[in-house]
Amino acid sequence: MANVTVIGAQWGDEGKGKIVDWLASRADVVVRFQGGHNAGHTLVVGDQVYKLSLLPSGIVTGTLSIIGNGVVLDPWALKAEIEKLTAQGVMINDENFALADNCPLILPLHRDLDGLREAAAGSGKIGTTGRGIGPAYEDKVGRRAIRVCDLAHLDAMDAQLGRLCAHHDALRAGFGQPPVDRAALLEELREIAPFVLQFAQPVWKRLKKVRKAGARILFEGAQGVLLDVDHGTYPFVTSSNTVSGTAASGSGLGPNSTGFVLGIVKAYTTRVGSGPFPTELEDEIGQKLGERGHEFGTVTGRKRRCGWFDAVLVRQSCAISGVTGIALTKLDVLDGFDKVKICTGYRLRGKVLDYFPSHSADQAEVEPIYEEMDGWQGTTAGARSWADLPAQAIKYIQRVQELIETPVALVSTSPEREDTILVRDPFVD
Ligand code: GDP
Ligand code: IMO
Ligand code: MG
Repeated sequence: MANVTVIGAQWGDEGKGKIVDWLASRADVVVRFQGGHNAGHTLVVGDQVYKLSLLPSGIVTGTLSIIGNGVVLDPWALKAEIEKLTAQGVMINDENFALADNCPLILPLHRDLDGLREAAAGSGKIGTTGRGIGPAYEDKVGRRAIRVCDLAHLDAMDAQLGRLCAHHDALRAGFGQPPVDRAALLEELREIAPFVLQFAQPVWKRLKKVRKAGARILFEGAQGVLLDVDHGTYPFVTSSNTVSGTAASGSGLGPNSTGFVLGIVKAYTTRVGSGPFPTELEDEIGQKLGERGHEFGTVTGRKRRCGWFDAVLVRQSCAISGVTGIALTKLDVLDGFDKVKICTGYRLRGKVLDYFPSHSADQAEVEPIYEEMDGWQGTTAGARSWADLPAQAIKYIQRVQELIETPVALVSTSPEREDTILVRDPFVD
C-alpha cells in the first residue's frame, strides 16, 4: 500500500490539513478529489500559519499538488489563494501545481443562487458556506457546466453559455432577480482564462505517469463522511461524495490505487451549519471544548457546535469508507477534564440502536447513550511519542479504537506540524 487516502470521518474540520501537510513530506504527489473552496484547512509550521481552501495541503511543503476533476473550481478563488500563499513565501508554478482540465467551474451565478436559496429557506437553511458549491455540482450533473477546458474555447461557447444562463435566469426570476449578464460573465471568464489555463492539463495522464514511476500518492479529501451527499445527514450535507471511494473517480486513477484509507477523527465532535448532532453540548462543557479547541470555521468564521465523541457515528463512517486506520486529532483539547464521555449507542423511541438511522427526523430524535471515563490530569499537548502520554489518555485512545473497530495510526496533539505521534506508518503498511 504505497498510497494513502485521507478523509474526514466526522462533519469536517477534523484536522485533515494538518495531517496531510505532515504526510506530504513522505509523498510525491498530493491530489484533491472533491469539494471546492468550501473546505478550510489551517496548517501551522513554526510561526507561520497557512489557511488553504482549494489548493492541496501538500503545496506548503512544495510537493507536487494536483486538483482533480472531482473538485468544483472557482477560478477567482484559486487566483486569490495562490496570490495569498505566494505572498507567504510558498512557491506555486506549473512544475508543482496542476489542475484537471475537466473540472467544472463555480461561477458568480452559483454563489448568487446558493445565497438566494439559503436566505429564502430561513430557519430551514442548510447553513452552507455560501460558496456556490451545491449549484455548481447541480450544473455538472445537469450537463450544462462550464469546465476549465472550455476557457480555451471562449469564442465558441455561445450556445453553451446560453443553455446555462437560460436555466439560471428561470431560477433567478423565481427569486425576483434580474437575468445573468451574459456579456459581463463572458468578459470575466476571458480575463481569468489565461491564469487558469497555465495549470490546466489532463491530470489523469500525469498521475498515470507518476504512478508508473513508483510515486507515492496522497489523496486529500475535504469535508467528512457525515457530510457525504449519500451517506451523510441528508439534506444537511455538502453536494459531493466525501467518502474514500471518490478519490478514484475524482482524480482519474482507479480504485486499486487509493491505498491505505486514513480517517481523520477529532477526539470529540464538532459540526458547523445546521443538522442533527446527537452528542451536541449546549452547556459550559460544549463552550469549554469550543474555546480550548478554537472551534471557529476557517472559511466563514462561524462558531462550530461542539459535543462529546460519538463512537457510533465514527464506526459507521469507518465502515462506509473502508478506513484502514485513523489519525486521532486534538487529543490535547480534552486535557484537564475530570470526566470524559463517549457515545456508545442511541435510544430511539424505547429501542437501542447501534447505528445512525437514515431518516432526518430519527437522526434528530436519537438520544445518546454514554460511557463515562476518568479524564487525565497531565498534559498531552505537544506530545510526540506514545511515552509522553498520560496513562489515562492512552486508555481513552484504546477505548476509542475498540469502539470504532478501527486501529489508531496517528495521534495529533497540537496544531503544529511536528506535534504528531506515529503509531503505524500508513505509507509502509
Ligand atoms: P480540516 O478542515 O479538517 O483541515 O480542519 P481545520 O483546519 O478546519 O480545523 C482544525 C483546526 O484544529 C485547525 O485550526 C488546526 O490548526 C487545529 N488542529 C489540528 N490538529 C490539532 C491538534 O491535534 N490539537 C489542536 N489543539 N489543534 C489542532
Ligand atoms: P473542511 O474540508 C465543515 C458544511 C457547511 C454546511 C454543509 C453544506 O474544512 O472539513 P456547502 O457550502 O458545502 O454546500 O455546505 O457542509 N461544510 C463543512 N463543514 N468543514 C468543511 O470542510 C465543510 N464544507 C462544507 O457548513 O453545513
Ligand atoms: Mg476545515
